[in-house]
Amino acid sequence: MTHPSKVKIVEVGPRDGLQNEKASVSTAVKIELIARLGQAGVKCIEATAFVSPKWVPQMADNAEVMAGIKRLPGVAYPVLVPNMKGFEAALAAGCQEVAVFGAASEAFSQRNINCSVVESLERFRPVVEEARRNRVKVRGYISCALGCPYQGEVMPSAVAELAHALFEMGCYEISLGDTIGVGTPGKTRDMIEAVARRVPLKKLAGHFHDTYGMAIANIYASLEMGIAVFDASVAGLGGCPYAAGASGNVATEDVVYLLQGLGIDIGIDLAGLVETGAWITEKLGRQNASKAARALSAMFAARSAAS
Ligand code: HMG
Ligand code: MG
Repeated sequence: MTHPSKVKIVEVGPRDGLQNEKASVSTAVKIELIARLGQAGVKCIEATAFVSPKWVPQMADNAEVMAGIKRLPGVAYPVLVPNMKGFEAALAAGCQEVAVFGAASEAFSQRNINCSVVESLERFRPVVEEARRNRVKVRGYISCALGCPYQGEVMPSAVAELAHALFEMGCYEISLGDTIGVGTPGKTRDMIEAVARRVPLKKLAGHFHDTYGMAIANIYASLEMGIAVFDASVAGLGGCPYAAGASGNVATEDVVYLLQGLGIDIGIDLAGLVETGAWITEKLGRQNASKAARALSAMFAARSAAS
């Protein structure tokens, strides 16, 4: 089986992870988390979201986070923006990359951003135009690419239609989100196949949540199809507001372990990442959701006890 020789990881822990954590996290801890991820070699770190603080209070300190981070050369710090208000605030905070986020399901679009899929595209258009004028890169997210918590099944054609619209609008990359982690490799392949008929495969990214433990299998299926960008969250930070007790994004440590095992070097120091995951989970008072991190931490501890 073939797979891409280069893969990019988009670390979404500080945003997708922390937006779903119940424990409140100080701005200083968020800033340190972003610094530690950069030191471990992560080249793209989604830092925060310029969304309504009434909808997502965990991201209310967005401007303070952006003001506090030390930007490393060669590292991108994208942020989420749902509309022009968010974009203007992101621009004022010095952001050089933003992401708009739509959904392949009408019901999810209404509940997440309070508008229909068509209306969301109309909100994103001026964001993309202003971003272009300001030389800000725009990524596009599609939620519910493999299923919706309200509607159930989502047709691959609906995902493909929205991906095409976002790409045509000017998004440089489209991240396909299995928001509730219900996908399996066969469904993942069918969905990517449908999207790749409308958008070049090299412009697509996979964003898998691990609710049913299928994220790594889905990433492997995507890799075999040629997808070379994956979103992941250190220590599997986050939860799923639509499935009580469920886990969040796929853990970055697990993805890096998979990629290294396949001989794909992504320049991330796995030991540094494991240390970062241990540090943030301690701050949150929760268990590390990464199996690779748990195994490696135990191995590191045994080694240092023996030496
Ligand atoms: P709305 O209530 O319809 O907005 O919310 P509105 O335009 O009617 O304005 C209402 C109030 O919100 C006004 O303030 C606005 O100024 C304010 P008021 O006059 O009442 O004082 N407002 C804002 N404030 C701060 N930042 C803004 C902003 N916009 C308006 N950008 C809105 C619509 C989109 C704002 C809201 O629904 C929202 O913020 N939603 C965000 C939800 C969210 O962040 N979800 C999580 C991210 S998506 C995700 O996690 C999925 C992903 O990971 C992929 C996957 O897993 O599938 C990406
Ligand atoms: Mg997500």
